[in-house]
Amino acid sequence: KTMEAFNVEISEKHELFRRAVREFMERDVAPYVEKGEKEGQIPKEVLEKAKELGLYGVSVPEEYGGQGGDSLMTVIAQEEMARVWAALSTRVAVGGLFMTPILLFGSEEQRKKYVTPVAKGDKVAAFANTEPQAGSDVAGMQSTAKKVNGKYILNARKIFITNGGIADYYVVTARTSPPEPNARWKGISMFVVEREWKGVKVLNRIETMGLKASNTAELAFEDVEVPAENLVGEEGMGFKYAMSTFDASRVGVAGQALGVAQAALEKMTNYSVQRSAFGSPLLGFQMVQEKIAETLTEVNAARLVTYWAATLYNKGMTNEAIIASSMAKYFATEVAERAAIRAITVHGGYGVATSTGVERLLRDVEIMKIYEGANDIQKLVILKETARRLFG
Ligand code: CAA
Repeated sequence: KTMEAFNVEISEKHELFRRAVREFMERDVAPYVEKGEKEGQIPKEVLEKAKELGLYGVSVPEEYGGQGGDSLMTVIAQEEMARVWAALSTRVAVGGLFMTPILLFGSEEQRKKYVTPVAKGDKVAAFANTEPQAGSDVAGMQSTAKKVNGKYILNARKIFITNGGIADYYVVTARTSPPEPNARWKGISMFVVEREWKGVKVLNRIETMGLKASNTAELAFEDVEVPAENLVGEEGMGFKYAMSTFDASRVGVAGQALGVAQAALEKMTNYSVQRSAFGSPLLGFQMVQEKIAETLTEVNAARLVTYWAATLYNKGMTNEAIIASSMAKYFATEVAERAAIRAITVHGGYGVATSTGVERLLRDVEIMKIYEGANDIQKLVILKETARRLFG
């Protein structure tokens, strides 16, 4: 079982898909990046074309508007999108965060009504979990949903919600009963909420250092009436559903980081061939060679860990995948950070000039280190899950 768990299974189908996404990103998306980052949004033209390629629902079953692909295809899509424009990969990934718990734990009606339009790219969605006083500590949340006359009355304050200001639908977590002394997570439930419902408010957009074209917002849900059929799965199980969702999505963040690291590697290599100093191309200097060699090694190592985690999902080995996807998320984002710093160093003044797009890589990856579980939390998950397996 251990050896089986260490395979990476990648096929011709995956490589053809990678080629299609790469071509799309270079031909149809690259020309819009600078403008989109300045304007703080992804232009309609890009979003429409992403739709044609089916990028919003790569691993969603075809019956719900997706492509029926596997977890590795999602990772490859994230990687290739982020290699050119990380903000686009984030926009798409958060749709996945919304759809995953509904696909895993929701009702057939919820899948048809809410997953299908998001997978097709017709509707935008977000996952509203983090609160002003509860980020890494999900079980510490204070939002509530009280059942009154067969409906839930939702009162929640949510912050740092990606796609928050532009979403049509939200998955929202809130307490339906108080925490239990030995299991604080119990009593949290999950709901699907529509933006148009009374009491749903976008309070403000939060400007961030990177992913400038991605929308991050603070939200309030004030006495929002949520029909009972919009409860996802069972009451009180929302924490577990959120954890399973993050387990699956973290490998996608690792994919994004791979894209950023790959972009940094390509940029520093190309520049060191083109640029000369002291009578030689930069590539002739050992300090530059060292940076490229280190990045090449680390990017390949990160790619293996990430594809391994995705392979575990493809095989249905979800328990093993929990640890692997936390390893991939933390390792790949740190590799990408180092790669981006090296790319800036090799480019010198051009590395810090915003017009070259090199410094953007570092700003974007700093967010990847934090969202969907800060890297310190990934290390806790790796340790806790390993200990659970060893000692019960
Ligand atoms: N997968 C599956 N189950 C898990 C799990 C995981 N990764 N982590 C914990 N659990 C289970 C445990 O097995 C345990 O179950 P039992 O009680 O049945 O044994 C239960 O959940 C409680 O676990 P803990 O005692 O470990 O819970 P905790 O409160 O001490 O901490 C935590 C858990 C790992 C720190 C968790 O709170 C966590 O992952 N925090 C990070 C939050 C996060 O990732 N936020 C991302 C926000 S979304 C986002 O960024 C969206 C965006 O807009 C981009």
